[in-house]
Amino acid sequence: MKKIIIASLLSLAFYSCESKVHKNFDINEKELIEAVSSLPQDIQENVKANPSGFLDGIEDLINTSQDLLLLVDKKHNLGSDYAPEDLVLLSTYPELFVRKGREQMLMMREILIENLIQMSKDADKLGIELELSSCYRSYSTQQRTFNYWVSIDGEEIASTYSARPGASQHQLGTAVDFGSIEPEYEFTPAGQWLYKNAWKYGFSLSYPKDMDAVTGYIYEIWHYRYIGREAAAFEVAFFNRVQQYMLEFWHYNKDFFIEKYIGA
Ligand code: DAL
Ligand code: ZN
Repeated sequence: MKKIIIASLLSLAFYSCESKVHKNFDINEKELIEAVSSLPQDIQENVKANPSGFLDGIEDLINTSQDLLLLVDKKHNLGSDYAPEDLVLLSTYPELFVRKGREQMLMMREILIENLIQMSKDADKLGIELELSSCYRSYSTQQRTFNYWVSIDGEEIASTYSARPGASQHQLGTAVDFGSIEPEYEFTPAGQWLYKNAWKYGFSLSYPKDMDAVTGYIYEIWHYRYIGREAAAFEVAFFNRVQQYMLEFWHYNKDFFIEKYIGA
């Protein structure tokens, strides 16, 4: 009797390891754990605690417009000719708060406008103004910006807070700097509201606190990137709010998961 119970428990364990973790993916738990083994331990634990939820998130990434998830960092750059095609002038939307003097300048991709307006309106209802200070920057604008900071602080220090041309998320047309663009923004109602709520509208904080070694940049409480609502929720649920971990993971594992995807 004892032997039978042990044998059935073993086969159950074997079966649960070999069987699919999600109906839309041809992948078992062992393969999934192997696929996430390059991620930090705490994120791996999140996946082990809810493997099918993790694959729900992966399915969301597959169904997100891939240009929203492009990895752009110090090692993965955009070409000098990369420019989004759906840029719109933000001052044409009365619900948005464009920094004074920048009305003819600030542009972002139309794909995110609905969420940006909704976020701005919801904050405004609480008396919080989400001031838009810097948005799309072309390759050449970034070149000028970086050179300017180098002239002030020298290359080594400038590169801890300013991206070299081709390496800025601002070139994507989906990144936005809010308010003062100063560390004190962390302590303002707007900075705090954004930190708590921006992800619900698809905006993710790109350079979180104490993540310099991971992101390549110092803490920027004002810099958010739109990645879509589903991707932002997935980042919060599994990647401990570190965009870099998620986008890097997606960059290197996208093909694997797409191959395993059977479809809904
Ligand atoms: N400040 C960020 C890193 C940029 O220049 O894109
Ligand atoms: Zn920025």
